[in-house]
Amino acid sequence: MSEALKEYLSVCQNRVERALEQRLPSEHILPQTLHQAMRYCVLDGGKRMRPMLTYCTGHTLGIAPEALDGIACAVELIHVYSLIHDDLPAMDDDDLRRGKPTCHIAFGEANAVLAGDALQSLAFEVLANDPSIVVKPESRLKMLITLAKASGSQGMAGGQAIDLESVGTKLSLPQLENMHIHKTGALIRASVTMATLAKADIDPEHAKKLDHYAKCIGLSFQVKDDILDEESDTATLGKTQGKDKDNNKPTYPALLGMAGAKQKAQELHEMALENLSVFGKEADLLRDLSLYIIDRKH
Ligand code: IPE
Ligand code: IPE
Ligand code: MG
Ligand code: MG
Ligand code: MG
Repeated sequence: MSEALKEYLSVCQNRVERALEQRLPSEHILPQTLHQAMRYCVLDGGKRMRPMLTYCTGHTLGIAPEALDGIACAVELIHVYSLIHDDLPAMDDDDLRRGKPTCHIAFGEANAVLAGDALQSLAFEVLANDPSIVVKPESRLKMLITLAKASGSQGMAGGQAIDLESVGTKLSLPQLENMHIHKTGALIRASVTMATLAKADIDPEHAKKLDHYAKCIGLSFQVKDDILDEESDTATLGKTQGKDKDNNKPTYPALLGMAGAKQKAQELHEMALENLSVFGKEADLLRDLSLYIIDRKH
């Protein structure tokens, strides 16, 4: 990872940690167990890649981080909800997440379902209400629609449904790509789109290029996730290695072989960079982030 990205990542991780902490209900408020479960899953963990993308897009467009905290929190809250439900016995049945027991292991299945539900609601409340977001009402509405579509049946939840339906089947490459674009790509794309919506006078061509960039890295992110599931180890990942094979999931390495999957990730990175060619040095963090996504170790 470049030094510039490392430094920015550490600043953003601290920033979003604080922002999330402030927006989550205290565990002293009733119902305490539910609030404890929400805080346990959201705080102090994860790479915060989606908030990072929001802040880096803002950096490229000259938007101050202070104006992006609500967006960054909203997207991370949806992401954590998706992880809690993804880990449930009815889905991937995982007992380790971010180096800790998963929500249902720590708090029971019912609380895990509810913690996911409540985090999803909180995400939309933050996006609708948060004072950090100072945009025209029309732009805020567009952000809400963007996040709703990216999370719903034609976004993340739809991708998860395809994932579950596909267990034990052999998908074609376009089918696999479609699944990944939905289950992971949609939210990553929304992290960028919502930041572009925070700039009222954005050049539409720039918005389009950033959207294409986000589409490429959204897919490369899940290709790399599949690669890591096969190649990494449980301690490094903070989640159980080898689960995709155990669960008979269609993945990029399963379909293309490991070398083919790595080549696909590299090609997507190059396409992502091409879409940033309209920008100068102000997009260097986004360039570095795309490389980090395919080079990361966890
Ligand atoms: C894991 O996401 C699930 C996918 C969508 C691939 P991350 O790799 O971003 O997980 P955290 O947030 O760092 O834990
Ligand atoms: C999960 O994909 C995507 C979402 C949570 C929407 P995976 O099932 O591959 O994620 P991990 O590997 O459990 O983090
Ligand atoms: Mg899954
Ligand atoms: Mg999973
Ligand atoms: Mg995975």
